[in-house]
Amino acid sequence: MRAIRFSRFGGPEVLEIVELPDPHPGPGRVRITVRAAGVNPSDWKKRAGLMDQQLPQAMGYEAAGVVDEVGEGVTGVSVGDRVFGFADEEGTQAELAVLSHYAPIPSSLDFAGAAALPAAIETATRALDQLGVTDGVTLLVNGASGSVGSAAVQLALARGARVIGTAGLANQEYVRSLGAEPVTYGEGLLDRVRALAPGGVDLALDVAGSGVLPELIEIAGGAAHVVTIADFAGAQEHGVRFSRGDSGRALHVIGQIGDLIDSGRFVLPVARTFPLTEIAEAHRLGEQGVVRGKLVLLVG
Ligand SMILES: NC(=O)c1ccc[n+]([C@@H]2O[C@H](COP(=O)([O-])OP(=O)(O)OC[C@H]3O[C@@H](n4cnc5c(N)ncnc54)[C@H](OP(=O)(O)O)[C@@H]3O)[C@@H](O)[C@H]2O)c1
Repeated sequence: MRAIRFSRFGGPEVLEIVELPDPHPGPGRVRITVRAAGVNPSDWKKRAGLMDQQLPQAMGYEAAGVVDEVGEGVTGVSVGDRVFGFADEEGTQAELAVLSHYAPIPSSLDFAGAAALPAAIETATRALDQLGVTDGVTLLVNGASGSVGSAAVQLALARGARVIGTAGLANQEYVRSLGAEPVTYGEGLLDRVRALAPGGVDLALDVAGSGVLPELIEIAGGAAHVVTIADFAGAQEHGVRFSRGDSGRALHVIGQIGDLIDSGRFVLPVARTFPLTEIAEAHRLGEQGVVRGKLVLLVG
């Protein structure tokens, strides 16, 4: 099968399409013919050598496609079913992928729309759980217009929270359309949040990693009320919890999101799709940080 991989760290030009042996599913896993795979900021961080140090690295960890082989002990899923989910071994930006956690694709979604979901909804759910977001709380999401931010806004609203979200000027109406109260980020952020919530907010989630943890701590009344998914150094400096995907993932959400999607209460736009051969272009665009919604590779 063809797969995206890199054998040295560097810019988008180090990405290659290589022939790899077809993977086969172990117990509890399914293999899919990949129709679409999500592209994430961690892809360019990995490619640049900022994360895992092993080489070579296959790319991608979320995908949607059609089951073509099932592992031992798998029940409830058959060859030919449309599923989406996570791989925890080989990369999903490939013609075939073994998924370790999967669910049926919600009926209103195509493959690209489904491939866009797993990382965003898992990360958002995990962070909201760690913060303890429940009915009636006021939550500030810093970076509400990105993939994880958009998911966090909508999943928090579904829990009954009030959500204030920061975004760039061009994304204020988008954040409002998600159901949050938008404010622009940058100088004067806390004054704008206080204009909406004079007593401050109960909880704050930093998705953007834009160096505002001290402000979030102040407006949420303490570091214990703040979680970041993108500011590792700031979390250590300010005593804020850094939420990471290597332990306690909220994987159950991929089996639960269908109801919210099919009832129109959750949308995650696909900003742009690319064929497998244009993976470098997807990285270049994604790294600019100007895309609203998810970048998705179409395969096959
Ligand atoms: N720890 C984990 O488990 C985990 C999991 C997934 C992702 N992440 C990390 O989370 C981050 C976001 O991922 P993503 O997929 O949501 O990225 P994304 O879709 O590219 O979104 C990034 C968003 O950041 C916003 N932004 C840029 N500068 C900002 C600022 N100064 N203040 C507030 N917002 C700002 C942008 O908003 P505008 O366009 O409106 O300016 C953009 O919508 C990445 O760093 C990623 O690596 C961590």
